[in-house]
Amino acid sequence: MNIAVRCDNLTKVYDTGGQKVTALNHINLNIHLGELMMLVGPSGCGKTTLISVIAGILDQDSGICELLGENLLTMKSKDKLRFRAEKIGFVFQAFNLLPSLNAAENVSIPLIINGEKRDVAKRKAIEVLERVGLGDRWKSLPSQLSGGQQQRVAIARALIHSPKLIVCDEPTSALDHASGHNVMTLLKEIALHKDRALVIVSHDSRIFSFADRIAEMDDGCILKTTDNR
Ligand SMILES: Nc1ncnc2c1ncn2[C@@H]1O[C@H](COP(=O)(O)OP(=O)(O)O)[C@@H](O)[C@H]1O
Ligand SMILES: [Mg+2]
Repeated sequence: MNIAVRCDNLTKVYDTGGQKVTALNHINLNIHLGELMMLVGPSGCGKTTLISVIAGILDQDSGICELLGENLLTMKSKDKLRFRAEKIGFVFQAFNLLPSLNAAENVSIPLIINGEKRDVAKRKAIEVLERVGLGDRWKSLPSQLSGGQQQRVAIARALIHSPKLIVCDEPTSALDHASGHNVMTLLKEIALHKDRALVIVSHDSRIFSFADRIAEMDDGCILKTTDNR
């Protein structure tokens, strides 16, 4: 199987106090293992909604989303939590590091959730921090790190449990050009394996060249998908 994600006719409408917003309007998209798919488009076009459905954080209204051949919508919530914890790594726009935990403790979280012992998790966290160039900063709190360094910690946290799918929501939007470039180089180097897929949401055209394929969204639709290789 080389399909990581299959979206078939996905729709999602938000209903806030009688006002309906169509965030996903019949989305069809396949993402293959071994590729970096970039989802691009203007603010409000549905990018975060789409990756939230793909990652099983949000339920669609209709259509089918399969992740590694599994339909998360029909899974029991306990199985879904475990599946997500094992198979998915998420990098958030605002890093979402826990401020009272140091870098190694933040990076350990997915392993702890997956039942690893704390000392083993910490040792592995320091190894992954070394791979993102922060081995000497494992004791630092997020507030003691620059934006680019915090994003690298967030990437280490998304990678530590070797997930099959890595999803990043605007990973460079809070970074200057050089840090954004470094973060993308790192994501592409470390995250990309033939048996892994990377989905990156962005409206930062400076990083589009890192994509294998680009899906352009507008108004809840995918307008076109371009091969960038
Ligand atoms: N929780 C929500 N409740 C109501 N409307 C929402 C919610 N989340 C997003 N939306 C709306 O859905 C549309 C798509 O949003 P989003 O997926 O966040 O787009 P993007 O990530 O491309 O900026 C926007 O019009 C947004 O205002
Ligand atoms: Mg968004």
